[in-house]
Amino acid sequence: MKKFFLLGHPVSHSLSPRIHGMFAEQCHMQIDYRTYDIEPGGFIDYVGRLRLEENPAGANVTLPFKRDAADYCTEITERARSAGAVNTMTFSGNHVYGDNTDGAGFVNDLTGRCGVSLLGKRVLVIGAGGAARGVLAAICSQGCARITVSNRTIGAAIALADEMGVHYAAFTDLTTGYDIVINATSAGLSNASPAVPGTIFKDCEIACDLFYAKTPTPFMRFASESGCRRVEDGLGMLIEQAAESFHIWLGARPDTKPVYAALRG
Ligand code: ATR
Repeated sequence: MKKFFLLGHPVSHSLSPRIHGMFAEQCHMQIDYRTYDIEPGGFIDYVGRLRLEENPAGANVTLPFKRDAADYCTEITERARSAGAVNTMTFSGNHVYGDNTDGAGFVNDLTGRCGVSLLGKRVLVIGAGGAARGVLAAICSQGCARITVSNRTIGAAIALADEMGVHYAAFTDLTTGYDIVINATSAGLSNASPAVPGTIFKDCEIACDLFYAKTPTPFMRFASESGCRRVEDGLGMLIEQAAESFHIWLGARPDTKPVYAALRG
């Protein structure tokens, strides 16, 4: 049975084992998908040991090791290079192939399940860390009319906007004029919403939080209260990025709809 691991810190509450378990069942495959909680700083040694002892076929990587994983791989895809992070590793002999399925997961969920096209849209990405970078790397090729990145610390937004060839704005300069607003900050981890003005949601078609929870996140509540017509959390993206990883490893494309319904329920 092929072995796959999720490497991160913390990982105990991750839905990924359930998601991959449902994918495998659907595709009539048997896989062994396990989580490993690794102490920060110990990623490279730990992965080396795991590979020797367990001979895994692949691994997903989550916070805070996506950059370490990019360094560890012997080869990485263009989208992983552009995101500066790897969330999917495939092991083959001495080679480690790294990919990043987060951005594609976001786009697939938005355009598929949500039925929202990015073509010709004015998009605001809030945040300038790893998550924002991954989303920007994916949406830049989707024909958006204008992409703006904004961040609490403006210097990080300027640097990221320059690198990705998009616009930037300070929180205080944000106003109406966005069709799609994406919260790619980690504010949800501390049960908060970024301090952006509510006016950004006035003409907004959809506000997406990359963070997910059982109940609407603070960002989703703020967007709804500010007049946004539709809000979504990051559960769909999580399932779609897992489906991309599953396809890379096993060549099969699972149907994500029943998995979303089961986990949302
Ligand atoms: P990740 O990989 O999840 O993106 P990260 O690289 O640490 O994590 O980046 C966290 C992002 O969330 C940053 O853009 C951070 O803003 P700063 O650069 O100003 O720190 C943003 N962030 C975290 N908490 C926030 C909060 N309470 N309000 C607004 N932005 C927040």
